[in-house]
Amino acid sequence: MEERKGFGTNFGFLMAAVGSAVGLGNIWGFPNKMGASGGFTFLIIYLILAVLCGFIVMVGELAIGRKTGKGAVAAYHALSKKFKWMGWMGILSAFFILFFYCALGGYCIKYVILNVGDLFGAGFGAEAVYAAAGDTSKSLGDVVFNTFVGSSGEAIIFGLIFVVITMLIVLGGIGGGIEKVCSVGMPALFVMLLICIVRACTLDGAVAGLKYMFVPGWAVENGIIAEAPDFLTVLSTAGGQMFFSLSLGMGAMITYGSYLHKKENLQKNALLIIIMDTMVALMAGLCVMPARFALDPAGNIGGPKLLFITMQNVFHSMGTLGPIFGILFYLLVVFAAISSSISLLEVIVAHFVDDARDAGKGDKRKPYSILAAIAAGVLCVLVCLDGLGENGIAPATLLNIEASGWSDCWLDFFDCVAEGILMPLGALLMCICIGWELGPQIVDDECCLEGNRFKSKAFFNVCVKYITPIIMILILAGQLDSFFGLGWFS
Ligand code: TRP
Repeated sequence: MEERKGFGTNFGFLMAAVGSAVGLGNIWGFPNKMGASGGFTFLIIYLILAVLCGFIVMVGELAIGRKTGKGAVAAYHALSKKFKWMGWMGILSAFFILFFYCALGGYCIKYVILNVGDLFGAGFGAEAVYAAAGDTSKSLGDVVFNTFVGSSGEAIIFGLIFVVITMLIVLGGIGGGIEKVCSVGMPALFVMLLICIVRACTLDGAVAGLKYMFVPGWAVENGIIAEAPDFLTVLSTAGGQMFFSLSLGMGAMITYGSYLHKKENLQKNALLIIIMDTMVALMAGLCVMPARFALDPAGNIGGPKLLFITMQNVFHSMGTLGPIFGILFYLLVVFAAISSSISLLEVIVAHFVDDARDAGKGDKRKPYSILAAIAAGVLCVLVCLDGLGENGIAPATLLNIEASGWSDCWLDFFDCVAEGILMPLGALLMCICIGWELGPQIVDDECCLEGNRFKSKAFFNVCVKYITPIIMILILAGQLDSFFGLGWFS
């Protein structure tokens, strides 16, 4: 039978796992949520939740993956009778996230090109697009964004280019594709981010951005938000963000864990992934927030519009060097998005490839990568056509209901199903499966292979049975509340 090839080095694994975790959520989600939810206090709560919940689920997923040596579906199948269907939930989540992730990844590629255009004063640059539109009543960022998402054809082309790049990397396999790309891409992302931070923090007026992010109460005092959220809301916001940002609850870490060598230390790797992901989220804030407050103080403060409208305005007002920083910034966002999308596609591909191999059909990575990419591409086209709800085909418009969290655009709809329901549910059930059905010993055994020690065993056992499931229920409730506006939290 064909051998199942895994990561060549622990560094390669770590970069791939951090790559999966570091994504769009770190760049437009974390800095804003931190600012709007209590600054430094939010960070502390985030870190506590990351330890009590993120770390536990991360170790659990890596252990399940490595123990079985299988993708999410086969892993649960091998371990549990009651929970054997859970891997499919992961595959479904992976598809739902891919639909909008690839559309946004395409936007990022387009913005690299817009800034290259500006650098050479070419007709495809953002400045030229703005001039051609002739509408000076709106900012450059707004005009360029609306022109782009309004021409769905172009958005679709870039979305599909992103799908194809993702597919080509996954086609290369774990060691040959994913590990190679992430081992170069993640350090490069880090360096580019550092350069952008230096530029952003030395702008006049940058301090306001730092205060917004770190000083508790500053956002309210300065009228950025109307009133401070209550403690429970902060808790559920931090939990939801932590959870999505660490790529948990949908089998991504099970899949990567299944390719990890038995001699590597699971506990240490889980901690490093969490530390690095949080670090990049903070660093992204140090770049985005000072720049936004210094150069586009009236602009958006979070979400896709921060990334594509406000940040483009920032580069526009930087003068001659603007395009260079624009290219650097959007390129680093492309890297962040690709390293996440490949792990999403791998969740799907790994399952079918393993299945075929076990059935003695040999290595079918190529056809399955292509098929999965086509499936992801089809609904990615829908998200591109929708253009963040600007083009009149949003779920709310089609159903003729008032737009709310889940229905104002297709991106939010897919995000709601995955991030709002499937992922937190997946992690909650995983804790119950490990804590109550299989017993936490199974994780301890896996962590202690080849002379490694699982120092946090006692902590893990208590958390996985009691503390983490309770927090997961809170996170699930918080996500349902924010997507469906149920008014449980205020
Ligand atoms: N962590 C990614 C981000 O911060 C998003 C994400 C959620 C993800 N689940 C995932 C990425 C699974 C890859 C695999 O943007």
